[in-house]
This record gives sequence, structure tokens and C-alpha cells, in this order.
Amino acid sequence: MGERVTARAPGRVNLIGDHTDYTGGLVLPMAIDRWTTVTGVRTAGDVRLQSRQAAEAKAYVDAVASEVAFSGGFDGWIDSTVPIGAGLSSSAALEVAVALALGFTGPPLELARLCQRAEHRATGVPTGIMDQLTAAAAVEGHALLIDCTALAVTPVPLPDGVEVVVIDSRQRRALVGSAYAERVAQCAAAEAVVGPLRTATMSDIARIADGVVRRRASHVVTENARVAAFAAALEAGDVASAGRLMAASHASLRDDFGVSTPTVDALVARLAAMPGVLGARMTGGGFGGCVVALTRPGALHEGWLVRPVGAAEVVAA
Ligand code: GLA
Repeated sequence: MGERVTARAPGRVNLIGDHTDYTGGLVLPMAIDRWTTVTGVRTAGDVRLQSRQAAEAKAYVDAVASEVAFSGGFDGWIDSTVPIGAGLSSSAALEVAVALALGFTGPPLELARLCQRAEHRATGVPTGIMDQLTAAAAVEGHALLIDCTALAVTPVPLPDGVEVVVIDSRQRRALVGSAYAERVAQCAAAEAVVGPLRTATMSDIARIADGVVRRRASHVVTENARVAAFAAALEAGDVASAGRLMAASHASLRDDFGVSTPTVDALVARLAAMPGVLGARMTGGGFGGCVVALTRPGALHEGWLVRPVGAAEVVAA
């Protein structure tokens, strides 16, 4: 038996900037105090990890082991406090924790890229880099403004006097993969007409003939602007503006990008009407899962309060 290793990686909630990462846009997630932990010993045999979600976990573990080009064995188990399939990046947390447990030691961006490739290999869904980069590069007490063209991460402190609350719609996310791939293809179709959406303007977008593709592109261009404005609002402590930008983001994801659901819309509307709620929106890929709210302290008595935590790490070796 070899040395015992424990590695853990956090889940994330995205405060604003959804369906922008895969066109090189802006996102503003934060890692949350929910982790996936991988513990075990290096062996001479195969990679064997036990977990309560054994079947789902295996594809990710195998994909990460291939990407790390891991040649040894590992015998251990996976434990997670990140809810599975709720839009809080349980799979990215798993990938990043496994890569670290198997001995990956490169810089955060390389870790994130490797785990993004593992995600593609495991699921076939052409996801962006937000989730893996958040787990790999998070900074305690901060959200992360990520420029997905430059792959630059700028920590943005959460101002005092606000809380981030995650509320589960309890709607199981279904057909997410095919709908996600369709959105990626629609953004590519838009870029074939106007060039990179990251630098396109609304007058460029007006030239797109296909109405659906034009609406998708319109979401991306307006969302990138909202992310920049949201980061500036947080820096200025203008939490009321930040909340309004979250509401506008939700409306855009619902009306232009078509990734919300009536259940999630109703939850967002109910939360937004509550005293002390500054803003609420769907978070992540959509089609069910969780909603994120920015609130005055103690405003909500449902969901769970999340705290911005630091990056994935080997916690004991
Ligand atoms: C999923 C993907 C991310 C991102 C979001 C939507 O979480 O893994 O890369 O595209 O959806 O913002």
C-alpha cells in the first residue's frame, strides 16, 4: 500500500453570466462551502473509487484518469456534500478532486482544462470552462470575474451586508445535454455571421436573419455587458444595482436563450417579490436545478446560505 491522499474540490454557484463561457465571454461564479472529497491510497493495481453514486461517478473518474495519463492504481472512496444534478457543478468538483488525488500538480488553469476535457470525454456535452476553473482557482471570500477569452481570473470581494442563498427548484434537470449542445451550435451559427460574440454589438446581431439564432446571440451580448456591470456594482458596494442585473439576466436566459422552465421562473418571481431579496435568477446550465438569490442578511428562511470558499486542494497527503 502507498501513501494516503485526501483531495477536495468545491461546487460553485454562478452569480451572473450564464451561457457565455463557451463563446469566450464573461462569467462571475463563486466556489461554495460544499465539497467533493476523494480519499484513498496509491496502489499498484487499478483506479477503484467507491461512492454512493457509483455508476455516475465511474465515467468521470475514468475520464480524469485518462486525461491525467495516470498509470498507477488508487483505492479509495468519494464523499460529497455538493448536491448532484442541481446545477452546482457536482461533476466539476468530482473531476478536480480526482485529478488532485491522482497526483496532478500543475497550475489551476491546466487543472481546469484537463478536467474540462474529462467532462467532454465523460458526457459528450461541449461545456465551457467556468465550472472547472472556479473549482481550481477560487479565492476565499470572493466571487471570480472570469474572462473566458483571456482565461484571466479576477477575484471580486463580496461586499458586506449581503448574503448569497441557493434555493433548489427540485425540478430534475432533464435532456440537459442535447439542449446545451443545441445552444452551443446556435451561438456558433451566430458567430459565423457576425464573428466573435464577445466583441459583437447589438447592431451586428441585428444582421442575423434567423430569429432564434438572433435571440440567442442577443442574450450573450447583453449578458456579457451585465457581468461587467455586476462586477463594477459589487466593487462599488451598489448591491441594489447588482440585484437588478440578476433579474435582467434571468429574463434574458428565459426569453432570449430559452433555458429556464416555468417552475424555475415561478420560483424566481416568488423570491424576487420577498422583502430583502435584491435579485434572484437561475444559475448554471438551466432546465431546472437551483436558483441563486442575493439578499439582505436573514431575508430568506429557505434554501441554504452559501459562503465563498477557496480553491480545490490536497488536504492531507
Ligand atoms: C454548465 C457548463 C458551463 C456553463 C454553464 C452555463 O454549467 O458546464 O460551462 O456553460 O452551464 O453558464
